[in-house]
Amino acid sequence: MNYRHAFHAGNFADLIKHAALLRLLASLRADKAPLRVIDTHAGSGLYDLRGPEATRSGEAQAGVMRLMGQATPPAALLALADEVAAANDGGETWLYPGSPWLIARGLRPGDSYLACEMQPQEHERLAAVLGSVPGVATLCADGFAAAAEAVRPGQRTLILVDPPFEKADDYGRIAALAGTVLARAPKTMFLIWLPLKDLETFDGFLRDLEDACEPAALLVAEVRMRPLTDPMKMNGCALVLINAPDGLEPVLAEACAWVADGGEDGRGQVWPLAGV
Ligand SMILES: C[S@@+](CC[C@H](N)C(=O)[O-])C[C@H]1O[C@@H](n2cnc3c(N)ncnc32)[C@H](O)[C@@H]1O
Repeated sequence: MNYRHAFHAGNFADLIKHAALLRLLASLRADKAPLRVIDTHAGSGLYDLRGPEATRSGEAQAGVMRLMGQATPPAALLALADEVAAANDGGETWLYPGSPWLIARGLRPGDSYLACEMQPQEHERLAAVLGSVPGVATLCADGFAAAAEAVRPGQRTLILVDPPFEKADDYGRIAALAGTVLARAPKTMFLIWLPLKDLETFDGFLRDLEDACEPAALLVAEVRMRPLTDPMKMNGCALVLINAPDGLEPVLAEACAWVADGGEDGRGQVWPLAGV
């Protein structure tokens, strides 16, 4: 397994994923019932944008650097801009907060968070970044298996699924995880991240996911940075939200449109796949 998120931290795909995550968490906090968050692929939690990996890829320039360079960030990405500013103590942007940092900071007393990371070095950094926050646990293990095991019926749960897609079976494992969990706990919510390379792979995955999740409500948010003509490139990315609370579409659409606007011929769109 070669994937290191440090090369990609703060890129356009992280912006849309983390803006959606923060919006979703804010909406879920409106309900007083305790929330459990499971992050199947947590990464290391905090990334040095001045480090060799980020400098080599330069991906953060068109992502978080573009966002933090706005005099007035777009409303849909304001919460993320605030979190990035907080991660940098209000100074120059050189650290980018990953999903564990964002989730852990949003927990209320009684909420809990399980962060899974299979790569031992990444897990070691993750554990150091999260420290000993009440309700937070990390696991150096396969996140698909751990999430399937950890979900309890009756517990309000959000699962973030964000694999590297280095292995062809990541798509199949996402659909299998969603099917297994929803059969046991039908109200479980998911936020799934996907790369957009070619339409055939994307459509095939959506069909499989729809079948696995029926009758759950599925909402898709797409960011295309360029037309999907070269399947060897990450031409954009998509999010699939399962059982998400109502009212997220307008803010997701605004976030997708703003992120896509940074592309060569970009466009963003949000559309219901099933049951919304
Ligand atoms: C895209 S990164 C995660 C980024 C993170 N979710 C964020 O938003 O900040 C994917 C991570 O999954 C880890 N990984 C790969 N396969 C895994 C598996 N089966 N279970 C858990 N972690 C895995 C990789 O080491 C990598 O750190």
